[in-house]
Amino acid sequence: MNTEQYTCLEIFAKQTMPGGKIRLCSGTQESQEKTAGSTYYAWLKFSVKPYTDYEIICDDCDVSVCYLSGNENILETGVRYLEETEEGFTIRNPATWYDRPMRETYHFAPWKNWINDPNGLCWFQGYYHMFYQCNPHGQEWGNMYWGHAVSRDLVHWTHLPIVLGPQEEVLSNPEIKGGAFSGCAVAGENEVIFYLTRHRGPLQDCEDTVEQQWMMRSHDMIHFTPEECVIERPPEGASFDFRDPKVLKIGDCWYMVLGSAMKGQGTILLYESRDLEHWEYVHPLLAEKNQIRCFECPDLMELDGRYLVVGAFMGHYDSCGRYQMSRYYIGNWRNRKFERVKEGWFDFGSNCYAMQSFEHQGRRISIGWISDFYGEHVKCPDGAYGSMTIPRQLHIRNDRLYMTPVQEMEKLKGEVLYQGGGENIAVPGITGNAYRAKIRFSGNTFFTILLGRDEERSLSLVHDMEGMRIVTKGVRSEGIVFRADVEEVRVLEIYMDRRVVEVYVNEGEAVGTKVFYNASREGCFELCAMRTENIVQVELALMRSIWNPA
Ligand code: FRU
Repeated sequence: MNTEQYTCLEIFAKQTMPGGKIRLCSGTQESQEKTAGSTYYAWLKFSVKPYTDYEIICDDCDVSVCYLSGNENILETGVRYLEETEEGFTIRNPATWYDRPMRETYHFAPWKNWINDPNGLCWFQGYYHMFYQCNPHGQEWGNMYWGHAVSRDLVHWTHLPIVLGPQEEVLSNPEIKGGAFSGCAVAGENEVIFYLTRHRGPLQDCEDTVEQQWMMRSHDMIHFTPEECVIERPPEGASFDFRDPKVLKIGDCWYMVLGSAMKGQGTILLYESRDLEHWEYVHPLLAEKNQIRCFECPDLMELDGRYLVVGAFMGHYDSCGRYQMSRYYIGNWRNRKFERVKEGWFDFGSNCYAMQSFEHQGRRISIGWISDFYGEHVKCPDGAYGSMTIPRQLHIRNDRLYMTPVQEMEKLKGEVLYQGGGENIAVPGITGNAYRAKIRFSGNTFFTILLGRDEERSLSLVHDMEGMRIVTKGVRSEGIVFRADVEEVRVLEIYMDRRVVEVYVNEGEAVGTKVFYNASREGCFELCAMRTENIVQVELALMRSIWNPA
């Protein structure tokens, strides 16, 4: 392995035998060695010489993730991931690494293993930054780290080094869990301030669970100051679920919303600060009558002259059988109070959770975690659990939340496979199974669109007397009604990306995200409408991978 322009090698290693370690050898230099973690993956950092050949030797230990970091220009170059092959650790190119049937091609996803909520979304000095919850060591939730990626255009992402890890006491004690939980960023001109929850507690959450809010800063998004605790305990009456700070400015004051519960009701708590360091509890901002354990990842923003609150429902089934939906509330802000006017579901597919938004140049952009709440994940070697939605631009129109893919997504449009209208359409064998379909109807026609098929399993979009909904067959989510809350369907934009689909209805009036695992490299698109004359226009185009250079 050659270090190219990098000066640091980061390896996460765990012993398989006592004394297990990592050795780093180069022909000309002395070798260095570091002991792997005895019960957990220790985060080992080796200094390396640029443009030098090294051999990485694992003695009685297992490596989860390994990458080269530490170069002057890392926001541009990103890290270089190394994977173990028969020839030892070798650098792998993202474009080929991601190009597998079970991996998304144009939705952001980690290099491998578990990812959940987007964190710290912001724009700073020319780059969009996305931090995210991750477990670098497996395809299941574990003690939490903050991963990090940057983008110049919101479409193509570059992986950066992991920023935060779990507390030492959490790592070293298998009886407890925790880590760096979700949080946000406040980006100024020369500095970014981050807020996040540190969690420490028993494996089963209970009154002994401790969630505190911490803060750190960065001037370059490569180096981060040590964290400081800014809120030590929940206010009187709030449950131990007390997490996921999101901060915004209204007038001269800074406000923080936190997800929690009070008197058995999911509640979003409001804090305020003048200096971003000292935070005072104000009152509960919003309580939910639906039976939820707590709100997770709340967001509060000003949007189109109104205020919008969004929160994720922990542990809740809706009347359609959907699990852990997110809800939005449109209202007005008066005297630090939020007066609700209208509300609705954030995403009718229910595989979108923990959305976070940020504002840049007048656009309010949101990214959500593409989760899997029905146990449909298929574990593949070197695979990943979870990905992020397409960045969506938010608007309020007619007292409804509208979401459309950011216009930069157009960059990814590739070969057009079909263009026309007035007829039913069947395009089988779509190479790569990453496409976008745009459909315009003239009347409110009923239809079925087959979007995925894998042996006896299928994914369709159906519009009939029961409304428009995503329908899965032969998978664990079969029977759940993923219905869009719309009166009629005039326009559809369908983003199919291997194991993920996002459906945008009526230019953003409703959006649904659903995972569907398809082992084939080929996709399909079959539109069958009751009145073909109502199909005004269909465009079906391939989408390019974001892991190819822009
Ligand atoms: C939501 C969530 C957050 C928490 C984080 C932990 O998915 O449970 O409430 O901060 O994930 O990974």
